[in-house]
Amino acid sequence: MKTSGGSDAMKRRAGESAAEAVTDGDVVGLGTGSTAAHAIRRLGDRVDAGLDIRGVPTSFASRELAAEAGIPLLDLPDAVGPDGPGIDVAIDGADQVATGAEESDSPDSGGALIKGGGAAHAREKLVDAAADRFLVVADPSKESPRLDRSVPVEVLPAGRTAVAAAIRDAGGEPTLRRAERKDGPIVTDNGNLVLDCAFGEIADPAALSATLSAVPGVVEHGLFVGLADEVHVGTESGVRVDE
Ligand code: 5RP
Repeated sequence: MKTSGGSDAMKRRAGESAAEAVTDGDVVGLGTGSTAAHAIRRLGDRVDAGLDIRGVPTSFASRELAAEAGIPLLDLPDAVGPDGPGIDVAIDGADQVATGAEESDSPDSGGALIKGGGAAHAREKLVDAAADRFLVVADPSKESPRLDRSVPVEVLPAGRTAVAAAIRDAGGEPTLRRAERKDGPIVTDNGNLVLDCAFGEIADPAALSATLSAVPGVVEHGLFVGLADEVHVGTESGVRVDE
Protein backbone atom coordinates (compact mmCIF):
# COMPACT_ATOMS: atom_id res chain seq x y z
CA MET A 1 0.00 0.00 0.00
CA LYS A 2 1.32 3.45 -0.92
CA THR A 3 2.87 5.50 1.90
CA SER A 4 3.44 9.22 1.53
CA GLY A 5 5.13 11.66 3.95
CA GLY A 6 4.90 11.78 7.77
CA SER A 7 6.15 9.24 10.27
CA ASP A 8 4.41 5.90 10.54
CA ALA A 9 4.05 6.29 14.34
CA MET A 10 2.06 9.51 13.86
CA LYS A 11 -0.08 7.90 11.18
CA ARG A 12 -0.73 4.98 13.52
CA ARG A 13 -1.82 7.28 16.37
CA ALA A 14 -4.24 9.06 14.02
CA GLY A 15 -5.67 5.85 12.57
CA GLU A 16 -6.08 4.16 15.93
CA SER A 17 -7.70 7.25 17.45
CA ALA A 18 -10.39 7.27 14.76
CA ALA A 19 -10.88 3.49 15.09
CA GLU A 20 -11.66 4.00 18.78
CA ALA A 21 -14.57 6.29 17.80
CA VAL A 22 -16.38 3.37 16.14
CA THR A 23 -19.14 1.77 18.23
CA ASP A 24 -20.97 -1.57 18.25
CA GLY A 25 -23.35 -2.04 15.33
CA ASP A 26 -21.71 0.61 13.12
CA VAL A 27 -21.33 0.30 9.36
CA VAL A 28 -17.86 1.76 8.75
CA GLY A 29 -16.39 3.21 5.55
CA LEU A 30 -12.83 1.91 5.24
CA GLY A 31 -10.46 4.36 3.57
CA THR A 32 -7.37 3.74 1.48
CA GLY A 33 -3.70 4.49 2.18
CA SER A 34 -1.16 3.88 4.92
CA THR A 35 -2.91 5.97 7.61
CA ALA A 36 -6.35 4.45 7.02
CA ALA A 37 -4.65 1.03 7.07
CA HIS A 38 -3.76 1.60 10.74
CA ALA A 39 -7.45 2.25 11.46
CA ILE A 40 -8.45 -0.93 9.61
CA ARG A 41 -5.95 -3.04 11.55
CA ARG A 42 -7.13 -1.55 14.87
CA LEU A 43 -10.75 -2.24 13.90
CA GLY A 44 -9.74 -5.81 13.10
CA ASP A 45 -8.29 -6.14 16.62
CA ARG A 46 -11.52 -4.75 18.06
CA VAL A 47 -13.60 -7.21 15.98
CA ASP A 48 -11.45 -10.03 17.40
CA ALA A 49 -12.33 -8.69 20.84
CA GLY A 50 -16.08 -8.79 20.06
CA LEU A 51 -16.93 -5.51 18.30
CA ASP A 52 -19.84 -6.05 15.90
CA ILE A 53 -19.33 -3.91 12.76
CA ARG A 54 -19.46 -4.19 9.01
CA GLY A 55 -16.94 -2.43 6.77
CA VAL A 56 -17.51 -0.80 3.39
CA PRO A 57 -14.17 -0.76 1.52
CA THR A 58 -13.13 2.17 -0.69
CA SER A 59 -10.69 0.20 -2.85
CA PHE A 60 -9.41 -3.23 -3.75
CA ALA A 61 -6.50 -2.63 -1.33
CA SER A 62 -8.72 -1.70 1.62
CA ARG A 63 -11.00 -4.68 0.89
CA GLU A 64 -8.01 -7.06 0.99
CA LEU A 65 -6.67 -5.55 4.21
CA ALA A 66 -10.08 -5.58 5.93
CA ALA A 67 -10.69 -9.21 4.92
CA GLU A 68 -7.25 -10.12 6.30
CA ALA A 69 -8.09 -8.27 9.53
CA GLY A 70 -11.33 -10.25 9.88
CA ILE A 71 -13.78 -7.37 9.39
CA PRO A 72 -17.14 -8.50 7.90
CA LEU A 73 -17.73 -6.59 4.66
CA LEU A 74 -20.65 -4.96 2.90
CA ASP A 75 -20.65 -3.60 -0.65
CA LEU A 76 -21.34 0.10 -1.11
CA PRO A 77 -24.50 -0.37 -3.27
CA ASP A 78 -25.97 -2.64 -0.58
CA ALA A 79 -25.02 -0.26 2.23
CA VAL A 80 -26.58 2.86 0.74
CA GLY A 81 -29.46 1.39 -1.26
CA PRO A 82 -33.10 2.03 -0.24
CA ASP A 83 -33.11 -1.02 2.06
CA GLY A 84 -29.49 -0.65 3.17
CA PRO A 85 -28.31 0.30 6.66
CA GLY A 86 -26.40 3.38 5.47
CA ILE A 87 -22.87 4.19 6.61
CA ASP A 88 -22.49 5.43 10.18
CA VAL A 89 -18.89 6.56 10.04
CA ALA A 90 -16.10 6.65 7.46
CA ILE A 91 -12.39 6.78 8.28
CA ASP A 92 -10.05 7.88 5.53
CA GLY A 93 -6.68 9.53 4.99
CA ALA A 94 -5.80 12.62 2.98
CA ASP A 95 -2.88 13.95 0.97
CA GLN A 96 -3.50 17.49 2.22
CA VAL A 97 -5.81 19.10 4.76
CA ALA A 98 -6.50 22.86 4.73
CA THR A 99 -6.16 24.10 8.30
CA GLY A 100 -7.30 27.65 8.15
CA ALA A 101 -8.37 29.86 5.39
CA GLU A 102 -7.13 33.40 5.05
CA GLU A 103 -9.79 36.06 5.38
CA SER A 104 -10.13 36.42 1.63
CA ASP A 105 -10.66 32.67 1.11
CA SER A 106 -14.07 31.05 0.78
CA PRO A 107 -15.61 30.16 4.18
CA ASP A 108 -15.63 26.40 3.51
CA SER A 109 -11.88 26.25 2.69
CA GLY A 110 -10.91 25.16 6.22
CA GLY A 111 -11.17 21.35 6.42
CA ALA A 112 -11.12 20.97 2.65
CA LEU A 113 -9.00 18.02 1.51
CA ILE A 114 -6.99 16.79 -1.42
CA LYS A 115 -7.24 13.02 -1.79
CA GLY A 116 -6.37 10.48 -4.45
CA GLY A 117 -2.68 9.79 -3.82
CA GLY A 118 -3.67 6.14 -4.04
CA ALA A 119 -5.93 6.79 -7.06
CA ALA A 120 -8.93 5.62 -5.00
CA HIS A 121 -10.67 8.99 -4.61
CA ALA A 122 -13.75 8.18 -6.73
CA ARG A 123 -14.93 5.39 -4.44
CA GLU A 124 -13.54 7.19 -1.40
CA LYS A 125 -15.74 10.20 -2.16
CA LEU A 126 -18.82 7.99 -2.61
CA VAL A 127 -18.23 6.32 0.75
CA ASP A 128 -17.02 9.38 2.70
CA ALA A 129 -19.91 11.54 1.42
CA ALA A 130 -22.49 8.87 2.25
CA ALA A 131 -21.30 8.49 5.85
CA ASP A 132 -23.11 10.20 8.71
CA ARG A 133 -19.68 11.13 10.09
CA PHE A 134 -16.44 11.36 8.14
CA LEU A 135 -13.26 11.16 10.23
CA VAL A 136 -10.05 12.17 8.45
CA VAL A 137 -6.80 10.61 9.69
CA ALA A 138 -3.55 12.42 9.03
CA ASP A 139 -0.13 13.37 10.35
CA PRO A 140 1.08 16.98 10.61
CA SER A 141 2.94 16.82 7.26
CA LYS A 142 -0.48 16.82 5.56
CA GLU A 143 -1.62 20.12 7.09
CA SER A 144 -1.38 23.38 5.19
CA PRO A 145 -3.14 26.74 5.57
CA ARG A 146 -4.18 26.50 1.91
CA LEU A 147 -4.39 23.51 -0.43
CA ASP A 148 -1.56 23.65 -2.95
CA ARG A 149 -0.81 20.05 -3.95
CA SER A 150 -1.76 18.64 -7.34
CA VAL A 151 -5.39 17.58 -7.56
CA PRO A 152 -5.85 14.00 -8.85
CA VAL A 153 -8.54 13.83 -11.52
CA GLU A 154 -9.82 10.38 -12.58
CA VAL A 155 -10.75 10.43 -16.27
CA LEU A 156 -12.28 8.07 -18.77
CA PRO A 157 -9.36 6.83 -20.92
CA ALA A 158 -10.94 8.15 -24.13
CA GLY A 159 -11.43 11.56 -22.52
CA ARG A 160 -7.89 12.14 -21.30
CA THR A 161 -6.78 14.69 -23.91
CA ALA A 162 -10.09 16.60 -23.85
CA VAL A 163 -10.03 16.73 -20.06
CA ALA A 164 -6.36 17.80 -20.08
CA ALA A 165 -7.26 20.71 -22.40
CA ALA A 166 -10.14 21.75 -20.12
CA ILE A 167 -7.80 21.62 -17.09
CA ARG A 168 -5.35 23.95 -18.87
CA ASP A 169 -8.24 26.31 -19.69
CA ALA A 170 -9.09 26.31 -15.97
CA GLY A 171 -5.52 27.38 -15.11
CA GLY A 172 -4.10 23.95 -14.21
CA GLU A 173 -1.22 21.87 -15.53
CA PRO A 174 -2.19 18.20 -15.95
CA THR A 175 0.26 15.28 -15.83
CA LEU A 176 -0.79 11.72 -16.62
CA ARG A 177 0.06 9.57 -13.58
CA ARG A 178 2.41 6.74 -14.46
CA ALA A 179 3.03 3.50 -12.62
CA GLU A 180 6.28 3.61 -10.64
CA ARG A 181 7.84 0.42 -11.88
CA LYS A 182 5.85 -0.21 -15.06
CA ASP A 183 6.10 1.48 -18.41
CA GLY A 184 2.54 2.78 -18.62
CA PRO A 185 -0.12 4.83 -16.90
CA ILE A 186 -1.72 3.99 -13.56
CA VAL A 187 -5.12 2.36 -14.10
CA THR A 188 -7.65 2.86 -11.29
CA ASP A 189 -9.83 0.14 -9.73
CA ASN A 190 -12.54 1.48 -12.09
CA GLY A 191 -10.41 1.03 -15.24
CA ASN A 192 -9.73 4.74 -15.70
CA LEU A 193 -6.66 7.03 -15.82
CA VAL A 194 -5.50 9.77 -13.44
CA LEU A 195 -4.35 13.27 -14.33
CA ASP A 196 -2.48 15.01 -11.51
CA CYS A 197 -3.39 18.67 -11.95
CA ALA A 198 -1.26 21.48 -10.50
CA PHE A 199 -3.22 24.68 -9.81
CA GLY A 200 -0.84 26.34 -7.33
CA GLU A 201 -2.54 27.65 -4.18
CA ILE A 202 -6.27 26.97 -4.23
CA ALA A 203 -8.06 29.91 -2.59
CA ASP A 204 -11.56 28.65 -3.37
CA PRO A 205 -11.66 24.82 -3.31
CA ALA A 206 -15.47 24.74 -3.70
CA ALA A 207 -15.34 26.76 -6.92
CA LEU A 208 -12.54 24.62 -8.37
CA SER A 209 -14.43 21.48 -7.32
CA ALA A 210 -17.51 22.63 -9.24
CA THR A 211 -15.40 23.55 -12.30
CA LEU A 212 -13.72 20.13 -12.39
CA SER A 213 -16.97 18.22 -11.83
CA ALA A 214 -18.51 19.97 -14.84
CA VAL A 215 -15.86 18.76 -17.33
CA PRO A 216 -17.15 15.91 -19.55
CA GLY A 217 -14.92 12.84 -19.14
CA VAL A 218 -14.08 13.58 -15.50
CA VAL A 219 -15.18 10.61 -13.40
CA GLU A 220 -14.21 12.19 -10.08
CA HIS A 221 -11.61 14.57 -8.69
CA GLY A 222 -9.73 14.59 -5.40
CA LEU A 223 -11.05 17.83 -3.89
CA PHE A 224 -13.24 16.95 -0.89
CA VAL A 225 -14.97 20.15 0.24
CA GLY A 226 -17.37 20.36 3.19
CA LEU A 227 -17.23 16.60 3.84
CA ALA A 228 -14.88 16.20 6.84
CA ASP A 229 -16.48 16.20 10.30
CA GLU A 230 -13.32 15.57 12.35
CA VAL A 231 -9.61 15.51 11.59
CA HIS A 232 -7.54 13.19 13.80
CA VAL A 233 -3.93 14.36 13.58
CA GLY A 234 -1.30 12.03 15.02
CA THR A 235 1.55 14.02 16.58
CA GLU A 236 4.90 13.21 18.23
CA SER A 237 3.20 12.78 21.59
CA GLY A 238 -0.47 11.98 20.97
CA VAL A 239 -3.46 12.90 18.84
CA ARG A 240 -5.19 16.21 18.20
CA VAL A 241 -8.81 16.09 17.07
CA ASP A 242 -10.07 19.12 15.12
CA GLU A 243 -13.79 19.52 14.51
C1 5RP B 1 -5.91 7.37 -1.52
C2 5RP B 1 -5.93 8.53 -0.60
C3 5RP B 1 -5.14 8.38 0.67
O1 5RP B 1 -6.02 8.48 1.74
C4 5RP B 1 -4.10 9.47 0.70
O2 5RP B 1 -3.24 9.30 -0.42
C5 5RP B 1 -3.27 9.42 1.99
O3 5RP B 1 -2.45 8.28 2.01
P1 5RP B 1 -1.45 7.97 3.19
O4 5RP B 1 -2.28 7.78 4.43
O5 5RP B 1 -0.73 6.72 2.76
O6 5RP B 1 -0.49 9.13 3.33
O7 5RP B 1 -6.53 9.54 -0.83
O8 5RP B 1 -6.59 7.65 -2.70
